[in-house]
Amino acid sequence: MSIFLDAAAGKDTRRAPIWIMRQAGRYLPEYNALKERYGFWEMCRDPEVAAEITMLPLRRFSLDAAILFSDIMTPLADMGVEIEFAPGPVVTRPVRTLADVRRLRVPGPEGTAPFVADAVRAVRERCHVPLIGFAGAPLTLATYLVDAGGAADGHAGFRVWLHAQPEAARLLLDRLTDVTIDYLRTQIAAGVQAVQLFDSWAGSHEPAVYAEFGLPYTRRVLAALDDPAVPRVHFAVGAHHLLGLFADLPAEVVGVDWRTPLSAARRALPGRTLQGNLDPAVLVHRPEALAERARAVLREGLGGPHIFNLGHGIRPDTPVGHVQRVIETVHGFDRHAEAD
Ligand code: CP3
Repeated sequence: MSIFLDAAAGKDTRRAPIWIMRQAGRYLPEYNALKERYGFWEMCRDPEVAAEITMLPLRRFSLDAAILFSDIMTPLADMGVEIEFAPGPVVTRPVRTLADVRRLRVPGPEGTAPFVADAVRAVRERCHVPLIGFAGAPLTLATYLVDAGGAADGHAGFRVWLHAQPEAARLLLDRLTDVTIDYLRTQIAAGVQAVQLFDSWAGSHEPAVYAEFGLPYTRRVLAALDDPAVPRVHFAVGAHHLLGLFADLPAEVVGVDWRTPLSAARRALPGRTLQGNLDPAVLVHRPEALAERARAVLREGLGGPHIFNLGHGIRPDTPVGHVQRVIETVHGFDRHAEAD
């Protein structure tokens, strides 16, 4: 049995399960050692290497879930997009016109990052906790394609484009939705036990724009993954103002970033499993303050099912010892006793 899957299924578990966004990343010296030998795409596309990197944090820490080592940009290469990492994704030829969008292929389930299925199977052979698969939400993927990686001013370039070219935007979002569904179904068929949809740039938009260009596509992705054994996590960053819109998304779990108190998300989404949301900045210095900050998050998470996580990806300058301290704090927190 898995405490992560119990909480995802809506059980108010005695202790909060914990995993960490970007747990297989640059704060780990063993990850950086592998990076000396492989390029980022090579690591994603070689199933054996991707599986080994997925396992790195689990060999060090007692975590309750693994997350597949890959990237939200992975399936876009098969649409005909050239992407480099510097270290964030940069699209060599941004998508701007309707003709650019029409040139993007929808390669179908067999043609969308087929290596990912082998990576999933390789992880499942060696992993004793549930494996989370993931994808980027269509709106966030579109942001990278159009804006070529420029996050300045809340992706103003992308916001301008949405209003200038709504027809191209809708076609682009539709194609990204189809590809994302194929990509996640491939992961589920290969054995991932939960999926997370990352909508990292949802928060850049006002509710009406998000309701038109974000929500319908995210809903279509989540609704297409209706295997009751595979819980769906929806995670949007900077999205306090959008919480009400998430209420009827078909997702068992809603991830919350560090700016939104879990109690506020609880009020907006009663009964939903919440995931989050310790500020990743807290882990970098002053280990003596860590346990108290982590316990504050745990107390905020009472009153319904909670999966402990950071409010966004762990920072590369985080000392590994601080991660251990957070995990011990979560393990030592009895949610049932605290709730009395
Ligand atoms: O450990 C894990 O969480 C699994 C692997 C994973 C990566 N990227 C590996 C990666 C996951 C789940 C992602 C998701 C991802 N990728 C998101 C959504 C989450 C978020 O941060 O909002 C986004 C927006 C991306 C796009 C992306 N890829 C960025 C912004 C960056 C650079 C910044 C960073 O955080 O490192 C990447 C590159 C990337 N993806 C790295 C890793 C480990 C670093 C590459 C390197 O080693 O140089």
